[in-house]
Amino acid sequence: MAKILVTGGAGFIGSHTCVELLGHGHDVVILDHLGNSSRVVLDRISEIAGKKPDFVLGDVRDRDLVRDTLAAGIDAVIHFAGWKAVGESVEQPLRYYTNNLDSTLVLCGEMERAGIRRLVFSSSATVYRSPAEVPVGEGAPLWCDSPYGWTKFMNERILSDLAVSEPSWSILLLRYFNPVGAHPSGRIGEDPAGIPNNLVPYITQVAVGRREFLTVNGNDYPTPDGTCIRDYIHVQDLASGHVAAIDYCLKHQGVETVNLGTGTGSSVMEMIQAFEQVNGIRIPFRIGPRRPGDAPMSFADPSRAAAVLGWRARYGIRDMLRDAWHWQQANPTGYQQPDIDRVPSAD
Ligand code: NAD
Ligand code: UD1
Repeated sequence: MAKILVTGGAGFIGSHTCVELLGHGHDVVILDHLGNSSRVVLDRISEIAGKKPDFVLGDVRDRDLVRDTLAAGIDAVIHFAGWKAVGESVEQPLRYYTNNLDSTLVLCGEMERAGIRRLVFSSSATVYRSPAEVPVGEGAPLWCDSPYGWTKFMNERILSDLAVSEPSWSILLLRYFNPVGAHPSGRIGEDPAGIPNNLVPYITQVAVGRREFLTVNGNDYPTPDGTCIRDYIHVQDLASGHVAAIDYCLKHQGVETVNLGTGTGSSVMEMIQAFEQVNGIRIPFRIGPRRPGDAPMSFADPSRAAAVLGWRARYGIRDMLRDAWHWQQANPTGYQQPDIDRVPSAD
């Protein structure tokens, strides 16, 4: 069992991963400035896992803080911390490049200094050139359409160069497809600030009455029902993927790039219908124009994850939509916690 530093561990994917790590007997230290998350999450993680993670409030760009935190016997790091909204990154590129790149540079500099060379990094399927040939394998051409995407691309480059420079590094670059869902307990889940950009949180907010109807972004794509197809993956599957990644990192050296997806694509209309069937709630929708930049179809070739990590996704869209609704129903306005603890650099 190992002691894992989880940057961004109070966020959506981080919180579910911390529960899973604790459940597997690992010790967890969360470093998060709560710039896009709530302190309430920490109690919920402890409640579900029956074990408390250590929590350090602060910014991953704070070198002294990272140095002190790593000195607490850390064996490996999962680096989730970063900003993630595609549209916002177009409006505020410097804020994205600064946070998403400086955090990695400071973290890896201090890891190198401390001789801790095991890292799991949150990348994204957004690094694949769109439209990609499906299923999308890790060797597919890369190109990004937003500053957010380029921060992932650049982070992957930096980390790959680092692994070449010092062979004892063990680095996993995990490219997530579309993470959705929530812990089955309904105690932790996705809590987007403002109007959701992504499909599933929008559907659950319509279901709970916070939004009147869903706008389907185009139904004239070259797909069977005309709406875009994506590879939705349960956040619980992503969490178990990170535990597998940590186990791999503890035993191997070098750098590996791995897709985390299910290998199955679902259209927007299929998601609406599945939500209605599994939860017995009607989702009013209207057909709107296409969203600029949307690819008609994207789903993963997940075979490398099975070969390298021995991991495959277990859940389907009905599980994801049931758990997303359970979370939203139990927490209609999310965590509802003012960000009293935010540190100034969180902006
Ligand atoms: P999230 O915003 O819920 O979690 C990120 C956490 O990092 C937040 O708690 C935030 O407060 C924290 N944070 C940000 N910058 C920080 C800093 N400098 N110092 C300390 N804490 C900081 O996001 P998420 O959905 O859990 O995503 C986690 C990671 O996975 C991100 O890197 C994201 O880009 C990547 N990813 C997410 C998705 C997705 O759809 N959710 C898809 C692909 C990749
Ligand atoms: C988005 C991000 C992508 C990120 C991914 C991970 C954009 C342009 N891309 O992509 O970088 O890696 O999330 O989660 O933001 N839809 C509607 N109505 C809505 C919301 C969405 O019809 O109200 C449609 C979209 O047009 C798309 C599908 O639902 O066809 C899925 O959308 P979304 O959940 O935003 O995921 P991605 O498009 O894959």
